[in-house]
Amino acid sequence: MSGYDDRDGKIWMDGQLIEWRDANVHILTHAMHYASSVFEGERAYGGKIFESRKHSERLHASANMIDFEIPWTVDEIEAAKQQVLTANGLSDAYVRAVAWRGAGEDMGVASTRNPVRLAIAAWEWGAYYGDSKYKGAKLDISKWKRPSPETIPSHAKAAGLYMICTMSKHAAEAKGCADAMMFDYRGYVAEATGANIFFVKDGEVHTPDPDCFLNGITRQTVIGMLRDRQVKVHERHIMPEELESFEQCWLTGTAAEVTPVGQIGDYNFEVGALARNIAEGYEKLVRE
Ligand SMILES: Cc1ncc(COP(=O)(O)O)c(C=O)c1O
Repeated sequence: MSGYDDRDGKIWMDGQLIEWRDANVHILTHAMHYASSVFEGERAYGGKIFESRKHSERLHASANMIDFEIPWTVDEIEAAKQQVLTANGLSDAYVRAVAWRGAGEDMGVASTRNPVRLAIAAWEWGAYYGDSKYKGAKLDISKWKRPSPETIPSHAKAAGLYMICTMSKHAAEAKGCADAMMFDYRGYVAEATGANIFFVKDGEVHTPDPDCFLNGITRQTVIGMLRDRQVKVHERHIMPEELESFEQCWLTGTAAEVTPVGQIGDYNFEVGALARNIAEGYEKLVRE
């Protein structure tokens, strides 16, 4: 399979569709050196991006959180995403929008004089965790902790926050795990490297309060689904020692969708009825 830089198709970049292989940046791009970049991961189902506008709004909000303004409105981004899907003949696809501080007069840490750029690409992308969806994913426990909102704008979907996620995921994969669960800076259960986490105990659902990480769009959708099903949801701080008492677990995210978890470190979970019901319900909902 060819690399992501070497494919046929079109990518939207700074206002126009260009050839996939021409969607390049200069090596002195500010974002390359200082992580001044924010992005979105979205999925289209049957040609329609699920919660498209929320993603475009979050892209704007993430940029503001790391101190820049995207020079395209939410409506313009919405139109551009559709253009990308159409130009590439995609119906079920993953959509990646990315905004960053480009190359320009500044090459130090400050970057007010460099242009802010925006690109949107889309491609076919199957299940993020392969067959874990049915068997339950196996998760490692990361040695890295989600940072305090006083350390970094931890609610932004910003590139800099993924450095510890990449390292966590590499360590997990080396142990034969699909992903890693991370604790936060206080020691509470936080999330996986690119997905939020839910637990089931005695018919009720417990999920970490997203006070220092992304409050995922899928997470919010799933909480709505649970409440529609009259299932009680507790958003709260979860201590590591509680992991032993939970019966079921699943991850939520645009890429991950709803993926049941079978194991986190030495703790085991069953792929139970509620996990399966929510995973199937989500698959239906995104195509409505
Ligand atoms: C770190 C992190 N947490 C949570 C999520 C889930 O967010 P969403 O459901 O909006 O895709 C993602 C994926 O975007 C993520 O990268």
